[in-house]
Amino acid sequence: FSLKKYNTFGIEANARKFVAVHSIAELKTVLEQNPNEKKFILGGGSNMLLTQDIDALVIHVDLKGIRIVKENEDFVEIEAMAGENWHEFVLFTIGQHFGGLENMSLIPGNVGTTPIQNIGAYGTEIKDTFVSCEAMEIATQKLRTFTKSECHFGYRESIFKHAEKDKYIITSVIFKLTKQNHKINISYGDISSELSKNNIVTPTLKDVSNAVIAIRQSKLPDPKELGNSGSFFKNPIISKAEFSPIHAKFPEMKFYEVSETEVKVPAGWLIEQAGFKGKRFGDAGIHKNQALVLVNYGNATGQEILNVSKDIQQTIREKFGISIEAEVNVI
Ligand code: EPU
Repeated sequence: FSLKKYNTFGIEANARKFVAVHSIAELKTVLEQNPNEKKFILGGGSNMLLTQDIDALVIHVDLKGIRIVKENEDFVEIEAMAGENWHEFVLFTIGQHFGGLENMSLIPGNVGTTPIQNIGAYGTEIKDTFVSCEAMEIATQKLRTFTKSECHFGYRESIFKHAEKDKYIITSVIFKLTKQNHKINISYGDISSELSKNNIVTPTLKDVSNAVIAIRQSKLPDPKELGNSGSFFKNPIISKAEFSPIHAKFPEMKFYEVSETEVKVPAGWLIEQAGFKGKRFGDAGIHKNQALVLVNYGNATGQEILNVSKDIQQTIREKFGISIEAEVNVI
């Protein structure tokens, strides 16, 4: 079964077996009937690089539905099933005048995978509005609720990448959104300049969403046109002690303070300075407008993209003495 249509990198790879599940009951049945089979859980396929065929039963989580769990005058708790497309869900909440997700417009992928890496953009992460998620334990088919504190969210991190890795299938997520007194956040550089371009002084949720969409479209390739998985690397977080001699050597290096003792360096800047931006190696390349994004020009294999990523990592290590880590799951 070809997975080319099921991964936004557009990599050709086959699954030994494939099943799409459309309800919790179907999911339970599939797990019950295949206790000894190796399983691979597939959501929107927007954060993975397939470097080989998958010798497993691929379970595509296609659970749909959105419902309000509770609300009062000020807040609403809204649940989305794992298979809902993230961006469509964001647009739905904005259409209802619910605030909190607007800065994360146009992020590819499905709702169910957003907690795994605590997706974020333009000054907001899902942990800021996340209440809880429900997940089925693969081994027992029991549903369990994970509260926000149980998820151990960090920068592109959660318990689902560590202690509970590959043990659960997230089936739905609940977010707490504002109905009034929205916390409009336009502090991330590009948003305010995008708004002022359109003479918007007091932006609505829709205005912020539109600004984010415009910025993303100008920098990030649309996976439907050019295969990619968004940022391929995480922005490295390094201690100030380690950073200070590097900064002395490269005074123009960009950085943001993330704690009393640490800074975050934009990997896109490092990759651009190392000369990789816009480069192409066969069908694998580095996007011309955003060096953090690796792209598939058509028929690149996962291995070819992985090789380019390793070349970038090594060059950055040699040139700047900084290690950058993949954000995408390499399979
Ligand atoms: N930069 C360069 N060259 C580049 C790209 C970036 O010099 O080719 C510099 C920019 O000038 C800027 C800084 O790096 O000063 C930051 O750039 P940008 O605002 O584009 O964000 P980013 O750090 O490259 C992160 C997220 C994105 C998210 C944006 C906006 C990570 C790994 N990536 O990218 O998330 O959309 O911020 O919030 O944290 C994703 O995770 O897939 C993703 C796209």
